[in-house]
Amino acid sequence: MSLLLGVNIDHVATLRQARYALVPDSPNAEPSPLQAALAAEKGGADSITIHVRGDRRHMQMEDAFELKERQTLPLNLEMGNTREMLDFALKLSPTFVCLVPETREEVTTEGGLDVVTHFGDLKSSIVQLQEAGIKVSLFIDPEDSQVKASADLGAQMVELHTGAFSNLTGQAQEEEISRLKMAAELGHSLGLQVNAGHGINYENLEKLWVVPHLAELNIGHTIVARSVFVGFEQAVRELHERMQSYQETSA
Ligand code: PXP
Repeated sequence: MSLLLGVNIDHVATLRQARYALVPDSPNAEPSPLQAALAAEKGGADSITIHVRGDRRHMQMEDAFELKERQTLPLNLEMGNTREMLDFALKLSPTFVCLVPETREEVTTEGGLDVVTHFGDLKSSIVQLQEAGIKVSLFIDPEDSQVKASADLGAQMVELHTGAFSNLTGQAQEEEISRLKMAAELGHSLGLQVNAGHGINYENLEKLWVVPHLAELNIGHTIVARSVFVGFEQAVRELHERMQSYQETSA
């Protein structure tokens, strides 16, 4: 299996909201997340990720329904573990839900979900989602206790948080890569699909190739940034091409 690319298109909606949040029905509202998803598919994306946040700063619920109906790639919904979002997910029925921590102040998802502390609340949501046929991923920091708790919760997948990795350099980054390696080994040995995401870009991507058992990377910001200069489809294609070297170096 080659390494899959999940393209996070949240920031296409961020740009639209910057101008049109107060006039959502304007015929001029652009750019379109649906158009981005269709371009991502042409560029080689394997799935589309969106995060409908409590504050609706980028993706709206209507975007999610439109994406579900009008594009064909598997849809991965990132969401906080709230009653409102759980009801929404059950109605939307995406292929995957990735449960993430969410506080209103943060610019993006800052840390992993603490599945050890929130074990009980998560269990009931995970069961409801899985009973509805939705596969569940947990976005966690690369720590043994979080990986073990994710397996105990019966999640099918974990997404290892690569935010710290992406912001560090030198020895500190090497140490973070070691943590990612250990978490990936442990997750795989416990039967979890191991994904990774946050802060991955065209430059740091290949440093992750020493992390074994990666199934999918979820990448957003860098693609949207590059798309300003080369177009969305091409930005996805370039990243997808770079990802093809994963298997050779990770055996
Ligand atoms: N995975 C998760 C769980 C996220 O919250 C985000 C950011 O929305 C990403 C991946 C993508 O991160 P980035 O936009 O830095 O590529």
